[in-house]
Amino acid sequence: MSLLIKNGTILSTTGEYVADIYVENDVISLIGKDLNVKADEVVDAAGKYVFPGGVDEHVHYGSFGGLLFDTADAAAVGGTTTIADFAPQDAGVPLIEAIERQAAKAKGTCSVDYAFHGIIMDPKDSVFEEIRKLPEIGVATLKLFMAYKGSPFYCDDEAIFKAMQIARDYGVTMMVHAENGDIINVLQKQLVAAGKTDPVYHYYSRPPLVETEATQRAIALSELAESPLFVVHVSTRGAMEAIRDAYNRGLPVYGETCTHYLTLNLENLAKRGNDGFEGAKYICSPALRPQEHLDAMWEGIQRGWLTAVGSDHCANTGGYEGAKKKGLGNFAKVPNGAPGVQDRLAMLWTQGVETGRLTKQKFVEIFATAPARMLGLPHKGRLDIGCDADIVVYDPAYRGKITNAASYHGTDYNAFEGFPMHGIPEKVYLRGTLMAAAGKFVGAKGKGRRQRCQTYGRCFEYVSR
Ligand code: URP
Ligand code: ZN
Ligand code: ZN
Repeated sequence: MSLLIKNGTILSTTGEYVADIYVENDVISLIGKDLNVKADEVVDAAGKYVFPGGVDEHVHYGSFGGLLFDTADAAAVGGTTTIADFAPQDAGVPLIEAIERQAAKAKGTCSVDYAFHGIIMDPKDSVFEEIRKLPEIGVATLKLFMAYKGSPFYCDDEAIFKAMQIARDYGVTMMVHAENGDIINVLQKQLVAAGKTDPVYHYYSRPPLVETEATQRAIALSELAESPLFVVHVSTRGAMEAIRDAYNRGLPVYGETCTHYLTLNLENLAKRGNDGFEGAKYICSPALRPQEHLDAMWEGIQRGWLTAVGSDHCANTGGYEGAKKKGLGNFAKVPNGAPGVQDRLAMLWTQGVETGRLTKQKFVEIFATAPARMLGLPHKGRLDIGCDADIVVYDPAYRGKITNAASYHGTDYNAFEGFPMHGIPEKVYLRGTLMAAAGKFVGAKGKGRRQRCQTYGRCFEYVSR
C-alpha cells in the first residue's frame, strides 16, 4: 500500500514549504517537489497544512478510573497518532507485570500507537529494583507522586530519591507529580470541616505554593541524585520558573504543561450550572488556576522553558453523572481528571497558533516532535524520510465548535465544550493508513501497535553517562 500526499504545506519545527510526501510500507520514503511516482492513494493537499501526527505523552486509560483503550479512537480523530499511557500498578503486583497487564489491555483495542510509562503505586525497595529492567520491556519513563498522601500513589522523599538514583543509571526518565501531599491533606480536612465542600474548594486545598514548593523539592532531589527530571502537568508560574532556573543552572530539568492549564481557569472550577456542581467537571490535579498562571504557561512554552503539552486525558468511567457526582458534598471525593486527548490539537491551534501565541513551528514541536524525543521514540513526531508515516492533513479554513456530541472519548461531558475550532484534521494517517477524516473515525479499530521506547531520551541530552 502506497500513499502520495501532494502539494501540501509541510510544517516542521524549523520551517514550512510546499512539497509532496510519498509513503511506502508504513514509512515516509520520499519528500520532494512534484514527485513523479505512482501510488495506490493520491491526496491533493493544496491549501492544507501537513504535519506530524500528535504524540500525547500524558494519558490515562485505566489509571485514576479512566475508561480503557477502546475509547482511544478519540486520539486519532483529534490528530494524535501516538499516546503514552500511565500503567497502573495494583497492590502486590510487580511493576513489570503491571505494565505487561496494561499492555495486554491495549493490544487489539487501541486505535493509535501506544507506549507506556511505569507508575509506582507500591513504593518499596523490591519495586525500585525493577526499574533496572524497564528498558528490557521498552519502558523508559517512570512517574512518582508527591501528592495523594494516604493513597497507594504517594511516595515520600526517600522513595523518590532512591528511585531517581536507580533510574539515572539505566537511562530511565523520572517524572514527578509535584504537589505537597501533607499540606493538601491538612487543607482538605480544614475546608470540609468548615463546610467548604463545593468543587471550587479543590483549588483552595491545592493552592499554587503547594505545587511550587514540591517542584522545588523535586528539583533538589534530582540534583542530589544527579538524575534528569521531567515535571509533569506544571500549572503555576512558580513551578515553571523553578524549572527554568534549574535548567539555566545547567541541570537536566524539564517540564510539561497540559492543554487545560493553558486554556481553562479557576472560573471553570467555580461554575455551578443547573445542579450547583458543574465545577466538578473541571476537578483535576493540580487544580485549575487564576488567569495569571495560564499566561505564565504560554510564556513558558513560547520561551522553551516548558517542553511539551500533554492532555492528561482521563475520561472517568461513569463520567459526570456516574463518577464526578460521587463527590457531591465533598470536593475531595470527586474523581480527578477530564477527557482531552481529542481536543489537544484543536485547542493548541485555535488558542495558540490562531491568536499568535504560538508559531506553527512551535506548535509542531510541542504537539509532536518534543514529546516523541522525550519518550525515546525517534521514528515518531516528525515528517522525515524513514519515520513512521503518521501524518495530519489539516484544513485551516474549517470553522466549528468543540462539542461532546462530536467527541469519541466515551464520557458524558467535554471540559472544552463550546470552544471554537479553527481548522480540522481533514485526514489523519497512522503509519500510512487513514484513521480519521474531518472529525470522524474511519479506520479499523484496534490497529495501534505497542511502541518500545529507547532509554536516555531528551531529558538525558548533555548528561554525562
Ligand atoms: O487530575 C488528573 N489529571 N488526574 C490524573 C492523575 C494525574 O495526577 O495525572
Ligand atoms: Zn499527576
Ligand atoms: Zn495524569
